[in-house]
Amino acid sequence: MQVQVAIIGAGPAGLLLGHSLRQAGISCIVIERQTRARVEERIRAGVLERTTTDLMARLGLDQRLKAEGLLHRGLTLVNDGRVINVEITRHTNRHVTVYGQTELTRDLINAAAERDLPIVWEASEVALHEVDGAAPSVSFCRAGAVETVRAEMIVGCDGFHGVSRQAIPASLRREFERAYPFGWLGVLADVPPCHPEVVYASHPRGFALASMRSPTRSRYYVQVALDEKIEDWPDERFWDELKLRLGPELAATVVTGPSIEKSIAPLRSFVTEPMRHGNLFLAGDAAHIVPPTGAKGLNLAASDVTYLAEALIGWFNHGDSAGINGYSDRALDRIWKTERFSWYLTRLMHRFPEDGAFERRMQDAELDYIARSEFAQASIAENYVGLPL
Ligand code: APR
Ligand code: PHB
Repeated sequence: MQVQVAIIGAGPAGLLLGHSLRQAGISCIVIERQTRARVEERIRAGVLERTTTDLMARLGLDQRLKAEGLLHRGLTLVNDGRVINVEITRHTNRHVTVYGQTELTRDLINAAAERDLPIVWEASEVALHEVDGAAPSVSFCRAGAVETVRAEMIVGCDGFHGVSRQAIPASLRREFERAYPFGWLGVLADVPPCHPEVVYASHPRGFALASMRSPTRSRYYVQVALDEKIEDWPDERFWDELKLRLGPELAATVVTGPSIEKSIAPLRSFVTEPMRHGNLFLAGDAAHIVPPTGAKGLNLAASDVTYLAEALIGWFNHGDSAGINGYSDRALDRIWKTERFSWYLTRLMHRFPEDGAFERRMQDAELDYIARSEFAQASIAENYVGLPL
């Protein structure tokens, strides 16, 4: 089989890129390790920047997003029970849209067949060959047989644990990493959200977050130590801890109910440079990870794809190499600023085990400054809606 672009990974990055290229008449294939069911049921974050909703609109795949997405014109910070409103729209003239990554992924997968975007599910032993040579290809194993796809370009959209990044020789790669000494315990429940906006709460017992998927489905998280076990968190304990950390004002509006999903995820910041090697490009989590504070993971994948689709369309349809040559620098410029914001918000809102009394006072002083300063709030709003492309 021969295509112009072979895409590894059917997460948001791979699917958005595949649709963008098909819309421009470029032949491609998406090669995914998991089953379709597994990819469709993964619960991830749910706040979309304009960059992401604009891309879905350009693809003509935003009908459900427009109908079911919730427009948010502000976000709420809480410091030990004290509520701080950050008015996103007043400061930026923009909003964010709450729509689960799970739903966005389903929309992209459902439209694949009609848009002539082939997706190979359950491809094991995916391997990249000759990424900087004359005949790049991707091989994989499906139903016991080895298959090979020849491609002019290969794009690694296979997430942090994928194989694509390793196809760039270690001597040419520079990796930057910060692992955080805690994780997030997340709960999904069919109860109405406690607050109309997403709430980020700092508390002496640790961080808590209140979010939602719809007017009847809530998503909550609490910061936990990395060695915490899910079995030690029955629903009742989770709700009690959440309410404590959100503070009395918000706790009063929390509706509890049985959890329909519960999981613990570690937090990490990670960037690899460069994002291109020969005919191989990286996009999304394959090249960078942000901690979920700030909800930037999916949005960064979408902005990478916006740049990369433009670059590949320039190359294949107009013979212009400026886009593909500039992709890595252009993408990394926005990635580092988004890494900074995600790291900043994580640093500001969590309890770090290594912090002493001085660092605690610094967090309090900063949150008090934000509460009183329009400029500080405007800066948070500007980053939260997403920096310009
Ligand atoms: N071969 C083929 N596919 C692979 C391989 C492999 N060796 N390794 C991983 N994959 C697949 C995964 O199963 C997954 O479906 O690649 C996909 C990567 O998808 P994501 O991890 O979702 O990454 P990405 O598409 O970059 O999406 C951005 O933003 O909200 C954050 O981390 C969250 O998933 C989100 C990400
Ligand atoms: C979510 O809704 O799951 C969510 C919202 C905001 C975040 C992270 C996750 O910063």
